[in-house]
Amino acid sequence: MKDLPKLELHLHHEGAAPPAFIRGLAAEKNVDLSGIFEPDGSYRFDGFTHFLSVYEAATSVLQSPEDYARLTRAVLEQSAEAGVIYTESFVSPDFCGGRDVEAWRDYLHAIREAAEQAERDMGITMRAIVTCIRHFGPEKARETALCAAETVGDFLTGFGMAGDEMKGTPEDFAYAFDMAREAELRITCHSGEWGDPKSIARTLDVLRPERLGHGVRAAEDPRLMERLAESGVVLEVCPGSNVALGVVPDWASHPIERLRRAGVRVTVSTDDPPFFHTGMVREYDRLADTFGWDEEVFRELALTAVDAAFCDDETKTRLR
Ligand code: ADE
Ligand code: ZN
Repeated sequence: MKDLPKLELHLHHEGAAPPAFIRGLAAEKNVDLSGIFEPDGSYRFDGFTHFLSVYEAATSVLQSPEDYARLTRAVLEQSAEAGVIYTESFVSPDFCGGRDVEAWRDYLHAIREAAEQAERDMGITMRAIVTCIRHFGPEKARETALCAAETVGDFLTGFGMAGDEMKGTPEDFAYAFDMAREAELRITCHSGEWGDPKSIARTLDVLRPERLGHGVRAAEDPRLMERLAESGVVLEVCPGSNVALGVVPDWASHPIERLRRAGVRVTVSTDDPPFFHTGMVREYDRLADTFGWDEEVFRELALTAVDAAFCDDETKTRLR
């Protein structure tokens, strides 16, 4: 599986930080993060909302554009090692300069330079998706969308929303998404990881994403699966994350195979790999073991990801 070329469309930049990297930065900056690690050095959390606060605590040691350049290098090395040739990372002005547009420009520049260096060294291509954080509220989402709109280009190509899906309604965030769409950013949104089929339908109606982060609870409603299949909305499915966070009890009951068989376009990603003790090779291995997926299925998945990628056509041609 390691050698199969992989594309990853759903990766949180800070969530992909190796724990040792975060511990190293904490030591440099004299920040005590001992509470967020297990004795074996992995991240420690208990349930989704605790996961979000551990994530934010780990992120607190990333304090400068230079820190983000180092993070970008560490994350892309990890992905390239797993055979990933193209990755889209969620980056948040909330963590990069507190949504100040000029500070955000500096962070984005540092991330981009590190990504271009990694592409030269390791052949991995990265694009960035600005992501607002739902539980930070609609006002901050608007400021985040403004940062995205001011810096959209061939590297920063998308806008999305992560965070606690049970907070607020899609309508609360419509202004931010409309601003992003007007700036010609491509749109994705976390929905249907925790939210029910009705809330997924509302997200599709109001925020009009072309991809959904997770979206797996759509499998509870055949009519919604039909709608997704017909409209071609692509799901960024992260099975290992769903198992680790308790969205589903185990791999065997994960709905990815049912979604795929219903004609829904699915892709596979890791979300926050070190948090969930996973990586793209492990996801592929588990999918092969659990559902009997072979190279042909993984090839189909990769082609879906190329089609759904938020990058230019020239890059897509190269990836195919
Ligand atoms: N931020 C990082 N990982 C996330 C997830 N799985 N769901 C929502 N927000 C997130
Ligand atoms: Zn996510």
